[in-house]
Amino acid sequence: MDLEKILILDFGGQYSKLIARRTRECGVFSEILSYTSSPERIREKGFKAIILSGGPSSVYEENAPKCDKGIFEMGLPVLGICYGAQLMANTLGGYVAGSGSPEYGSTNVEVDKSSILFSSSNIGNVTETWMSHVDYIKDLPAGFRVTAKTSSCPVAAMEDAGKMLYAVQFHPEVTNTVNGMDIIKSFLFDVCKFKGDWKMSSFIDDAVAKIKEKAGDGKALCALSGGVDSSVAALLVQKAIGDRLTCVFVDHGLLRKNEGDEVEAIFSKFGLNLIRVNAGERFLAKLKDVEDPEQKRKIIGSEFIAVFEEEAKKLGNIDYLVQGTIYPDVIESGAGSSAMIKSHHNVGGLPEHMDFKGLIEPLRELFKDEVRRVGLDLGLPENLVMRQPFPGPGLGVRIIGKITAEKVAILQDADAIFRQEIAAAGLDKEISQYFAALTDMRSVGVMGDFRTYHYTVGLRAVITSDFMTAEWARIPHEVLAKTSNRIVNEVQGINRVVYDITTKPPATVEWL
Ligand code: XMP
Repeated sequence: MDLEKILILDFGGQYSKLIARRTRECGVFSEILSYTSSPERIREKGFKAIILSGGPSSVYEENAPKCDKGIFEMGLPVLGICYGAQLMANTLGGYVAGSGSPEYGSTNVEVDKSSILFSSSNIGNVTETWMSHVDYIKDLPAGFRVTAKTSSCPVAAMEDAGKMLYAVQFHPEVTNTVNGMDIIKSFLFDVCKFKGDWKMSSFIDDAVAKIKEKAGDGKALCALSGGVDSSVAALLVQKAIGDRLTCVFVDHGLLRKNEGDEVEAIFSKFGLNLIRVNAGERFLAKLKDVEDPEQKRKIIGSEFIAVFEEEAKKLGNIDYLVQGTIYPDVIESGAGSSAMIKSHHNVGGLPEHMDFKGLIEPLRELFKDEVRRVGLDLGLPENLVMRQPFPGPGLGVRIIGKITAEKVAILQDADAIFRQEIAAAGLDKEISQYFAALTDMRSVGVMGDFRTYHYTVGLRAVITSDFMTAEWARIPHEVLAKTSNRIVNEVQGINRVVYDITTKPPATVEWL
């Protein structure tokens, strides 16, 4: 059975990935391609329908991203969203005007219930939508009719139902559009007639079948970090080729407290062919006296590769390298004039020059939350699947100044206490990332009858959706008090605890 899929043609909008996720939530597989994609390519890839994303441009700008007009003549259903709606109007002979009354935020839209898009019984005559536009469609292209309007936007939606061309000025993909999912479903199921039978469980069976086909009777190697992507990728490949997969877990000694043992224990349960390399001392030796953060990152990254290569050499005769590349790493960006494909650079990423027949990247089509769902379906424990991000260079970028075994141990203990207390307070799902960082500053304290001269540890906890900007978490004072109390009492070497109340920007999430 051929996979039914919809194309999200990306014009650089901030919500393109969200649109793709929404259709997948409806059981319709989606892919994002640059707006430069030709009708031939779209046909070749077998898409059944197209959604034009929003974008920051104005159709009249000199270098505005425009798609091939032929896309509207392929006989496929098309839904234009925001900029995509304006582009549809502009391309097909309508008129888009600038500087009308801009609309931002929640806006009530009056809809024509006779339009198939708004036919769901959940939608009333007026529905709340999320708008974000300056330009607006003033005149319709021939053959179109208006199907929604607001007090300041004469064409909040339009359609030429005969040609299956639909457009909405608002964003149905964001949750602020109250009936957004109803509208998306009407497009997918009533207009496009998708079956909606794409499921994560069918993803696992398909992925395993594809890996089997690609790997044949070859052998594969995977660098396992204990992070969700590499873990899920490894388990999928193991399902396909069993013992012909070897995983190498390079423990650089800069993991969180007990993390190395936990990772090993989880994967030994799965019977994974796992080689753990305890390289802590080797990394510390390379890092001796290094203070510069970027230098630390480089050393950890290149040492990681060196260790991994040595292991690969010992194994010999490996055909494929398994990588946990996920969809956001490979999406063609619609922004800019040429399609840019990002490559996957995990820190402690893998040698590009290694001699493999090819790569196996079973997660290339999945978003992070989808990878998590697959991980749970495969039986990985929730604490691994849902775990907060942890930088590849580990505690190496959480120790300011020189890194020593003693400092690593101090930080591991303090960090473990902070994580325990956050979890005990039930805040672990709310806070995006939380950890301790060890400063290079010592100060005077008093313990019993003794004067101490010990380190200060910093606690960091942030709330963010994309890690590009972040707000510091308003952790209740009692939780901070308990954490601080436990750290100074239980961790030898720390006599002062501070809480970082800086947003990103100007600070970063990590202290280094
Ligand atoms: P910053 O500190 O740049 O962090 O605000 C944003 C996110 O990226 C993570 N991070 C890293 N991840 N290698 C990684 O794999 C690194 O060198 C690295 N530096 C920062 C950080 O933990 C946060 O989630």
